[in-house]
Amino acid sequence: MKEQTAPLIFTNSRDGTKLVIDGGRPLHGSVDVSGSKNATMGAMAAALLVAEDCYLENVPAIGDVGHMAEVLRSLGATVEPTSEHGLRINTAKLTSSSPPTELVGNLRASFLVMGALLARLGSAGCSPPGGDVIGQRPIDVHLAGFEAMGSRVDREGEKYVVETDGLRGARLFADYPSVLGTQNLMLAAATAAGTTTIVNAASEPEVQSLAAMLNSMGARISGAGSHTVTIAGVEALHGATHRIIPDRLEAGTFAIAAAITGGRVEIRGVHLGHLFSLIAKMREAGVVVEEDGDTLRVWRDGELRAVTIQALPYPGLATDLQAPMAVLLTQARGVSYVHERVFDNRLLYVSELRKMGAEVVTTGTTTAIISGPTPLLGSSVRALDVRAGAALILAGLAASGRTEVADVYHVDRGYERIASKLRSLGAAIERV
Ligand code: EPU
Repeated sequence: MKEQTAPLIFTNSRDGTKLVIDGGRPLHGSVDVSGSKNATMGAMAAALLVAEDCYLENVPAIGDVGHMAEVLRSLGATVEPTSEHGLRINTAKLTSSSPPTELVGNLRASFLVMGALLARLGSAGCSPPGGDVIGQRPIDVHLAGFEAMGSRVDREGEKYVVETDGLRGARLFADYPSVLGTQNLMLAAATAAGTTTIVNAASEPEVQSLAAMLNSMGARISGAGSHTVTIAGVEALHGATHRIIPDRLEAGTFAIAAAITGGRVEIRGVHLGHLFSLIAKMREAGVVVEEDGDTLRVWRDGELRAVTIQALPYPGLATDLQAPMAVLLTQARGVSYVHERVFDNRLLYVSELRKMGAEVVTTGTTTAIISGPTPLLGSSVRALDVRAGAALILAGLAASGRTEVADVYHVDRGYERIASKLRSLGAAIERV
């Protein structure tokens, strides 16, 4: 089955598509990184703040963009492609302040409409958001912040309903540096009366990206990228054109693909600063990583060594690269420890990896111990979420024989044309 080439607004269906990989081929060549999935989610929500057009560039052609577009359309927004990777969003005529539960269930980022709608309309409703099964995902940081800024939070049936007579700036303490929580509070605070400070804010590049977009719309946000973000509320915002940052998680996935297959790959269009933790750990494991402007060159020069990795909030190693790194470590000599410290249940992929011959044991739900190197054997496995799915594709590329990865729609939520991109590097991978 051919991958769609311009599926910006496609709806990825749970149609039983699988990826079939004949492993054991070293990857060679160059690949371009797409725009960041998670940065796009914040940017799309930001368009709800203004009646004017917002133009987004470098939008990845992935399932979650389609899902978020459906959420915005359910509120009365126009979301239309302007090019293969461009979007125009207009929210002049909002008809609802509460997206339907079935759409919200498709992706966690849909909860970002809360902060934006609260600021724009004074009220918003949303069911607890869906998303990957990777552990408990509370939203107390979002809701406590809305309350502290002068809104009432109620539960009406399955929905949270938030209302305000006017948001006021406040000094907020986030119990956890939540990425979406920080973004939601920034959206709400941009036009609040007075100044909001988020203490213990998330510092992820996707938060920085949203601050840059909001500032280009007329907001006054400083400190994004640190753990204290200050938002001086402004009277009104205006439309803007915003370019989405490169996807550091896709870039990292390709870097690991190069290393695990023993190939040599050039990854173009990356933001090196966003990849520092990954590059450091890959080098420690014996991978050669050459940095050159916005390009990474990755290859293996000899045996891989076991290392300990810890998934942490930025600038720690991204939790979204924890599973891909664990797969790489199955090929490293010695005993590697993988500690997941962001989510409390993000090692579910380990049982799939074991089917392929990996020697991995878990202690509790947050530590995996990997003994290597173990040859991986082609098997039938299931993508449990977007990153676990990507990790199993990496395992399939390194395995001998044929691997079938089912439930590929998870991967399509976050990776643009992953099979075509890997095929262009010499992988034998097909959608069936
Ligand atoms: N948390 C709280 N209270 C809250 C919110 C979160 O305690 O109110 C805790 C969670 O329980 C979890 C930790 O904070 O243990 C991290 O959650 P966070 O809220 O930071 O995650 P998120 O904002 O829901 C985003 C990304 C995830 C990424 C995480 C961590 C988007 C759309 N999603 O989720 O991306 O793993 O940040 O960096 O931006 C992915 O792309 O595959 C993905 C899951």
